[in-house]
Amino acid sequence: MDFNGKTAIITGAGRGIGAALAREFTARGARVAVADLDAAAASTVALEIDGLACTCDVTDEREIQALVARVEAEFGPVDIFFSNAGIFRGEPDHAASATDSTWQACWQLHVMAHVYATRAVLPAMIARGDGYLAQMASAAGVLNQIGDAAYSSTKHAAVGLSEALTITHGHQGVKVSVVCPQYVATPMLGYDDPAQAEELPNVLSPEVVAQRVTDAMEAETFMILPHPDVAGYMEFKASHYEKWLSGMRKLRAKIVSQLGEHQAQ
Ligand SMILES: NC(=O)c1ccc[n+]([C@@H]2O[C@H](COP(=O)([O-])OP(=O)(O)OC[C@H]3O[C@@H](n4cnc5c(N)ncnc54)[C@H](O)[C@@H]3O)[C@@H](O)[C@H]2O)c1
Repeated sequence: MDFNGKTAIITGAGRGIGAALAREFTARGARVAVADLDAAAASTVALEIDGLACTCDVTDEREIQALVARVEAEFGPVDIFFSNAGIFRGEPDHAASATDSTWQACWQLHVMAHVYATRAVLPAMIARGDGYLAQMASAAGVLNQIGDAAYSSTKHAAVGLSEALTITHGHQGVKVSVVCPQYVATPMLGYDDPAQAEELPNVLSPEVVAQRVTDAMEAETFMILPHPDVAGYMEFKASHYEKWLSGMRKLRAKIVSQLGEHQAQ
């Protein structure tokens, strides 16, 4: 897919990976609607890239419908909906100890927001025989995230939804990608400055992730792995599941011995 002249909506684009994607899509010729719960953050990014700032809570289907209607009115048909907004809260104790409200928030943000976005744009994409649905999952959605079962479970569900979308609608001209990064230096992980990514192995800056994601979308790749090592971990998990689980238990024990039980939750 060529980004030039396309209209894109990116959610959670007020900062972090979403903001970097907004800059990268714009650099490749797309018009970008910068959607975020944080109105000021959306405005700052939109001003910088000459995009459209949209305040939107993606967990509310009516707000997603209003977002799409506004972008269609300003820019025309939506070619790309990149559902990126997400949260990471960790868990206070054992693997089922996060509150119902945390589990529900993860479900709404990591799954239902993608469902709402799909409902809002898919019928028109099918009618045009063209369109692109991209979903931000995580390596936690194909492997697991130690210390956050709600995050891991809902990111797995996001990958399942993306697979269903491409299996069902791939023949109708609808492209689908699911993005599964490992660690990225964003405010979600407590990084104020993307340059901090250089300090730690295996942590990428949002800019590098955005470039790799955009390249992969140009190639219409379904499973996008900004950290290439994840492909090998997925292969190992699929072919040696019990060994992989045992390795993850050992990794958790190592983290607990270094940081203490509660830091590993
Ligand atoms: N940072 C990482 O290491 C990492 C790794 C893998 C996957 N991801 C995923 O990438 C995506 C972006 O993460 P990030 O690191 O840039 O996070 P971030 O916290 O830096 O930015 C997330 C943005 O989403 C917005 N947002 C939160 N709730 C919203 C809502 N209800 N409606 C609209 N916007 C909302 C926030 O205001 C914020 O601007 C998430 O889905 C996250 O799970 C991140």
